[in-house]
Amino acid sequence: MSTTQQRAAVSFLAWAVSASGVLASCDLNSGQGEAVPFPGNQTVEPLRASSTHSPVEQLGKELFFDKRLSSPPGQSCADCHAPSVGWTGPVPGLNQHGAVYPGAVHQRFGNRKPPSSAYATQSPILHLEDGAFVGGSFWDGRATGLGLGSPAADQAQGPFLNPVEQNLPSPEALCELIATSSYATLFEQAWGIGALSCDPAAIVTTFELIALAIAAYEASAESDAFSSRYDAWVRGEAALTDQELEGLVLFEGKGRCAACHPAPLFTDFTYDNLGAPRNPDNPFYEMDRVLVDGKPINAQGKDWVDPGLGGFLADQDVIPEWTALAEQNWGKHKVPTLRNVDLRPGRGWTKAYLHNGVFKTLTDVVHFYNTRDVDPWPAPEVAANVNRDELGDLGLTRSEEEAIVAFLGTLSDGWGR
Ligand code: HEC
Ligand code: HEC
Repeated sequence: MSTTQQRAAVSFLAWAVSASGVLASCDLNSGQGEAVPFPGNQTVEPLRASSTHSPVEQLGKELFFDKRLSSPPGQSCADCHAPSVGWTGPVPGLNQHGAVYPGAVHQRFGNRKPPSSAYATQSPILHLEDGAFVGGSFWDGRATGLGLGSPAADQAQGPFLNPVEQNLPSPEALCELIATSSYATLFEQAWGIGALSCDPAAIVTTFELIALAIAAYEASAESDAFSSRYDAWVRGEAALTDQELEGLVLFEGKGRCAACHPAPLFTDFTYDNLGAPRNPDNPFYEMDRVLVDGKPINAQGKDWVDPGLGGFLADQDVIPEWTALAEQNWGKHKVPTLRNVDLRPGRGWTKAYLHNGVFKTLTDVVHFYNTRDVDPWPAPEVAANVNRDELGDLGLTRSEEEAIVAFLGTLSDGWGR
């Protein structure tokens, strides 16, 4: 769906002072579990320090890569959002199968594939435009941005306390870990003397400053780099091959990709149900056997179906009128950026695509768009609201499919580095 979007103009500093955001209600947990090294440990390294970071951005970077900020220690944001693979999951063995990443407590799994954390800060606050939802963060938009004025900041408060992610018991516990870190003084340099207060009276504000710093880093030039060969080509500083140029023409024309993935962000932050099949390897289906506070993580087990945006709308009480729109948004997921979609350490290195990671190659994704309604594909995960106007029978030849895949390869940041 193609809609004009307004970018949310968020002044982080202004919000830091005035925001009185509400803590996301979260199943807090005492955090037992053995400290085994996270499978991503070896692969995740921060990018080289950038001299252009402001103190707030540098603080956000420290927080993003700090493996101490979990219970048990060992998991940082970057373990599921590694720059080397386009800010998504860096473990090929996981991507090959369920594509969902274990939490700090390794027996626990959430339900979705990590999307790119880069370019996500560009998403506006979740809102309706001509009857369609635009903006927000997460596949289902539930980090609306209505809390802290930025979906990315709302989002950044989630993982620390989520029992299937970093699993800290409270914002106070997070604050204490930061207060004893090597970058504690940077916090005060960024936000002012006394800003790193873990007192009950101050913790809501401190937790907001933590999230705002992460969002600032995610919006920095290191994360939203716009440094691909495509960007250089737009500036007239690099060439695309004939095949890549053919792919670009198809991307904007016959393939209809740009209807939902328009340049320069390659997303319009709207929501759609592509009719993608479920991923039978999703470890969440086994989470009826793993308990948090005596309750199964996924009581429905194998019967669980990902409701996407519709599920969030049905559950939320942020805007009561939205509840009535749940049904027509059932099974829809946010259009992800296609920047870095092919960024990987090597050719045979497996990534996973879509909210459930069901596809393992870009060739399969494009072939699915092209032939969903003409070839025998498995049934959609959610049969309602499948988009049949813009995809499913595109009539692309094999070589046209390949040209689109080749074009997607030009969107990897770090060209010429
Ligand atoms: C255990 C793996 C894991 C960890 C740790 C983790 N994330 Fe994520 N992240 C995910 C998954 C899975 C999603 C999608 C969840 C959903 O949509 O329901 C996600 C979504 C996001 C998004 C939304 C992107 C978009 O386009 O909607 C951002 C931004 C993000 N994470 C940043 C972070 C930050 C910042 C941290 C650390 C504070 C973090 N993540 C820690 C797995 C992880
Ligand atoms: C109607 C809107 C729409 C159109 C048209 C569209 N996409 Fe998408 N695209 C989406 C949505 C929504 C998702 C996420 C769906 C999900 O996870 O279930 C997505 C996901 C993707 C992904 C996976 C990205 C990731 O990080 O997992 C790729 C790759 C992709 N699209 C490429 C394309 C290409 C190439 C075309 C044209 C052939 C195209 N899209 C056309 C809406 C669209």
